[in-house]
Amino acid sequence: MASLSGKSIVVTGGASGIGRAAVELLVAAGARVTIADLNEAGGHEVLAAAKAGGVGQAQFIRTDVTREESVHAMVAAAVATFGRLDGAINAAGIEQHWKPLHELSAAEWDRVCDINLRGMFLCLKHEIQAMLAQGGSIVAIASIAATIGLAHCAEYCASKAGVTGLVRAAAIDYAKSGIRVNALLPGATLTPLVERALATKPKELGSLLIPMGRAAQPHEVAGGAVWMISDEASYMTGSCMTIDAGLSVA
Ligand code: NAI
Repeated sequence: MASLSGKSIVVTGGASGIGRAAVELLVAAGARVTIADLNEAGGHEVLAAAKAGGVGQAQFIRTDVTREESVHAMVAAAVATFGRLDGAINAAGIEQHWKPLHELSAAEWDRVCDINLRGMFLCLKHEIQAMLAQGGSIVAIASIAATIGLAHCAEYCASKAGVTGLVRAAAIDYAKSGIRVNALLPGATLTPLVERALATKPKELGSLLIPMGRAAQPHEVAGGAVWMISDEASYMTGSCMTIDAGLSVA
């Protein structure tokens, strides 16, 4: 994707899974990438791989998306190192607790909504502030859980539906400022998050019937996010694009 060459792009959750695959694709396309994640070991591993194999540049900034000062410092570091911020793929997120709603504690609700929804708000806020001068493009990684009900996933579904609401509103606010804001809604993707979720999933909940018969590899989802932030998607804002092998329409 030629239009990404030289662009300064933030990837939250870039130390693992979908975010990590996005970092790899962006660096290969010649972008200058700020990997933002709580996971320092994973972040440094992704950074080393990016430096070894890519044509672009990268830095790792330890970031907690639930803390505003941390998000502010991460965006400032992206601008300080690469001179500006052109784009962001916000993938930081966690999974559900697999409980029916009436058994969910307020603390469990708060944890998932803090990271998945409030964290997304804080990232959008500071990324947009850095883009106001010259425009930019942001992709929020939501989930098909934003549009369909999933058993024992109330807090996760609510957090991801919140993300799509946030994206639609932000798209309108900044359409005339040259800042595009879109959401990507993945289905089941083979990442550490899904491995953790499947390891604790109660047996009685059964399995998701994926029409294509398999889960995605992380780069199959990340490729969509990379296209959405690129200039190739220049007329797209406020969209919620699914990449789910037909799961949400089955
Ligand atoms: P993952 O667990 O492999 O990666 C998530 C990353 O977010 C981790 O590196 C983790 O350290 C980071 N993170 C968590 N809390 C953070 C915080 N407070 N501050 C900064 N970083 C934090 O998960 P995966 O699967 O790559 O998920 C990425 C996004 O995609 C998430 O938002 C998830 O909800 C979403 N998603 C994943 C699907 C899947 O099947 N794997 C399906 C639909 C959506």
